[in-house]
Amino acid sequence: MTLDEARKRHTELNAEIREHDAHYYQKDTPVISDADYDKLRRELEALEFQFPELVTPDSATQKVGAAPSEGFKKIRHSMPMLSLANAFDEVDVQEFIVRAAKFLDLDSAVNIELVCEPKIDGLSFSARYERGALKYAVTRGDGEVGEDITANIRTIRGFPQNLSNAPELLEVRGEVFMRNEDFRILNSEREESEKFANPRNAAAGSLRQLDPAITAKRRLSYFVYGWGEVSEPIADTHFDAVTRLGLMGFHINPRMQCCFNLPESMNAYDDLKENRALLDYEIDGMVIKINRLDWQKRLGQVARAPRWAIAHKFPAEQAVTKLEAIDIQVGRTGVLTPVARLTPVNVGGVMVSNATLHNEDEIARKDVRIGDMVVIQRAGDVIPQVVEVKTRGDGAPYVFPNHCPVCGSEAVREEGEVAKRCTGGLVCEAQAVERLRHFVARNALDIDGLGAKQIEAFFAEGLVKTPADIFTLEARDTQNLSRLKNREGWGEKSATNLFAAIQKARRTTLSRYIYALGIRHIGEETAKLLAKNYGTYEALFDALIAAHDHESDAYKELLAIDGIGAKVAQALIDFVHEEHNQTLLNELQSFMEFTPEAAARTDSPVAGKTVVFTGTLQSIGRAEAKAQAESIGAKVAGSVSKKTDYVVAGAEAGSKLKDAEKYGVKVLTEDEWFALIGR
Ligand code: IVH
Repeated sequence: MTLDEARKRHTELNAEIREHDAHYYQKDTPVISDADYDKLRRELEALEFQFPELVTPDSATQKVGAAPSEGFKKIRHSMPMLSLANAFDEVDVQEFIVRAAKFLDLDSAVNIELVCEPKIDGLSFSARYERGALKYAVTRGDGEVGEDITANIRTIRGFPQNLSNAPELLEVRGEVFMRNEDFRILNSEREESEKFANPRNAAAGSLRQLDPAITAKRRLSYFVYGWGEVSEPIADTHFDAVTRLGLMGFHINPRMQCCFNLPESMNAYDDLKENRALLDYEIDGMVIKINRLDWQKRLGQVARAPRWAIAHKFPAEQAVTKLEAIDIQVGRTGVLTPVARLTPVNVGGVMVSNATLHNEDEIARKDVRIGDMVVIQRAGDVIPQVVEVKTRGDGAPYVFPNHCPVCGSEAVREEGEVAKRCTGGLVCEAQAVERLRHFVARNALDIDGLGAKQIEAFFAEGLVKTPADIFTLEARDTQNLSRLKNREGWGEKSATNLFAAIQKARRTTLSRYIYALGIRHIGEETAKLLAKNYGTYEALFDALIAAHDHESDAYKELLAIDGIGAKVAQALIDFVHEEHNQTLLNELQSFMEFTPEAAARTDSPVAGKTVVFTGTLQSIGRAEAKAQAESIGAKVAGSVSKKTDYVVAGAEAGSKLKDAEKYGVKVLTEDEWFALIGR
């Protein structure tokens, strides 16, 4: 390449990257995948490496991200906003109903009345009314904290500002969306490069406008399908409650209907699927809810989804395109994931250029080769996947690498695992960067202004190599000549905001912190379990060190926690015994300060007590008893040890009752237990 050619390409690349930065940071609508974006940046870097005279202060290589948008005020939800578990076929739905029946200890599932509603593909919101007046409206956010969109929601036609005949306090929840016709009109007025990919993106881009005047110009719609905090019950059933919200003036979906059993709900589903195109808005399935609200209350939630509702999704959309290349991505725990690079193709309204190939075995099973025409599909928000080969190209069978493409370490498969893993650990840059990204992510330490792009840039420059470096960033910055605030894309304000966000993140719950560490197999729920059972970081850490010895009490106690099995236990033990991790944990300890867990209740007589249920309970099912005990702060264990406080023995209790006697643990009958907790 001549210098002239290089200069031309350099200008092109910079323009392209700048445009993508604007899409990503200011408009919330990235038009290419992170990987494709990285490719552009890598090409630019390579070019500048070869022709150093092209490096100019305004080149994208000299910038760390773009200025984060000013942002919305954050509001904490009075009750978390949940999401839904998915069902893909009749069996999944049936299992959902049977699970609920079992939880409720009903004799049969046939008596459960269901409500079926279209699943709107939009953005969920919560709007709070006090004495009939709209106080504020919030996006879902991470389910705990959302963004204040009050001014924006006021501009939506038919959204009530005042209610008559409403409870003192009422939070309604629903979905904001854009009708297909409004989407078409909006897009027809926009430049080619500015067009929204689908109505959902258009709704998101329109609602999340700092200037509500812009929201007002876009025609948004909404439906209300639920509620949050209320000062008095609105009805006895979900159907009646939503109907009442409709009478108060909210838009409710006219397609909401009651079904009395599984076949009826399958009919409703088929009907909805067939008539999907007749609706003037996008839906991606049908939501099935248990109608009785007293049952909903008893069923409660697991993880972030209610046990009383499920999303019955429509089948995936498919398309055929060419497989141009297979790239290997390295994840946080070293897993090598093959990614298909495709000739871009429209799949159900979304342009797709990457799809997952899952793992080595899947590629072999489908015998996917570079150059083949392949069927890809996407369902809802899941990553598009390669389904099968449609027509064979002239490529050779694909050989999965034996080494990490990033650090070159050997990649191996553990027995019984499908994943091949890089053995480089923290030596591997890909793993280190992914761990950092996970550490600051929304469900983890949630550091605003430190997104994937900034993390990568900081890492590449050596500014942040480990999670602990994040907390020393500010102190180091004041001694640095090229201070953050003086860099391209940053300013006094964004730098100050970032440092404030980092300071804020030092105070968090133990469970978020455990999750943030990114230990294999440890998701948010397990992290919560650990925090609840050990209470403090020190207690957890000491226990994990001691649990190295599988004969120790510490190991047995770890396994006794209901929800922790041998695999999870070993992952925890391995993590704390790794020398690098011990250094990291010690460093982090000097920065962290733990706040109480959100839902921890201390005002019940069994708060903090460990309970074991055994035998058959008469009045409620075992699952409900467990959920109920946990909701009032008790820890439920699967086996009896000397740390157990109560064993609740139902009919035909067996060995656990004997263990209770052995350890001198107090045994309660079912009635005594309910008397103790005041039910
Ligand atoms: S109920 C606690 N009903 O789907 C249950 N959700 O995939 C809350 N959604 O976060 C949801 N239509 O944003 C419910 N008729 C409907 C819905 C609906 C769309 C969205 C909602 C939710 C997401 C879960």
